[in-house]
Amino acid sequence: MMSQKELSFNARAIHVGSKPDPTTGAHVAPVYRTSTFVMKNADEAILAGYGDRENVYAYTRYGNPTVHAVQEKIASLENAEACLVAASGMGAITTALLAVLSAGDHLVAADTIYGGTHGFIKKILPRFGIEATMVPTIGESVENIKKFIKGNTKVIYIETPCNPILGVTDIKRAAEIAHERGALLFIDNTFATPYLQQPLSLGADIVLHSTTKYLNGHGDVLGGAIVGNKKLIHSMDNDFLKWMGGIMSPSDAATLSKGIKTLGVRMDVHCANARKIAEFLDNHDMVEKVLYPGLRSHPGYDIAKKQMRNFGGMMSFNIRGGFEAGRMLIDNVNLISLATSLGNVDSLIQHSASMSHASMTKEERAAVGIAEGQVRLSVGIEEAEELISDLDQALLHVKKKLKM
Ligand SMILES: Cc1ncc(COP(=O)(O)O)c(C=O)c1O
Repeated sequence: MMSQKELSFNARAIHVGSKPDPTTGAHVAPVYRTSTFVMKNADEAILAGYGDRENVYAYTRYGNPTVHAVQEKIASLENAEACLVAASGMGAITTALLAVLSAGDHLVAADTIYGGTHGFIKKILPRFGIEATMVPTIGESVENIKKFIKGNTKVIYIETPCNPILGVTDIKRAAEIAHERGALLFIDNTFATPYLQQPLSLGADIVLHSTTKYLNGHGDVLGGAIVGNKKLIHSMDNDFLKWMGGIMSPSDAATLSKGIKTLGVRMDVHCANARKIAEFLDNHDMVEKVLYPGLRSHPGYDIAKKQMRNFGGMMSFNIRGGFEAGRMLIDNVNLISLATSLGNVDSLIQHSASMSHASMTKEERAAVGIAEGQVRLSVGIEEAEELISDLDQALLHVKKKLKM
């Protein structure tokens, strides 16, 4: 095969880590659905016991060929040296943070991030003596980060585009600021995927994914990934995840590998559909504001254009009528599913204040721009016109019911 560097994104998504089975020639290698591995002899058992020798397997929590294959695939797509997968996106995020932070360390995190990550940083980290400061990092406020870095700041944590308001942070600038002060830059790249944005090439140290979302794309498994240089990933694996135990199962790794093969083609349709829907919503009298970085009016448009290949399939919009109108809208779509995930082939809609960001207080949400009538839409790969028609009839329903 050609070297990985010569292959297109789609060819890497399909071929890297997806080799035929050497013993039978099966085109799609079997899933190594096993908890343990039989050693050839006592010498091999000693080697494998350390759990970090390539191709010498001892026990699936220490390593498994199907899991290693998907790690190889994701690392290739992010142009990274290494990848470590975990049981969920939160499993990856908590592993990465706890593996590098110790009691007495400080973290600067963006204030607008996935609600679960927000909860972990605010509620769990302090119990282990890790202090966090949550600050705005979107647009020009990226310069803010400098003000909050202290002598013991080890990690800067951002998400771009961020959940749920689609704010955009300049990755290159955030990396410069972090590195000037000896901190590591962690980025949750779930919304963009490696097809649209490769943060390591812009200076980030660690990239995180909820592979539950676009990477798998079909909504049938949970998973998470940590991507970065070999040394960091190896230590997160050997010195942390192996002992914590939240690994990805071989069955889920196989499902994920299959999903990733079509990531590029799916993302092209997600992006094209999202652009049409954002333009439709932007002109709708029931919509106050559309948050989609692909609209020229979006404050993050220029940075997104610079650091992303396209603008993605996620958007939020503020509906007139607030909390009640937002909930009424999600209750009245037909083709689009009322569900709190994202990145699936099918379109999903949710009300952020009462669903994904319910763990934040109303005041915390308001402070970061999550309006009470804000609805988040994960645009699927159905036809844009049928999605628009579904949204149109639901918006009309709300308008009539609330006599607006
Ligand atoms: C941006 C982002 N990061 C991380 C997560 C957590 O992923 P998981 O649900 O796979 O644990 C989510 C979940 O919605 C998310 O949207």
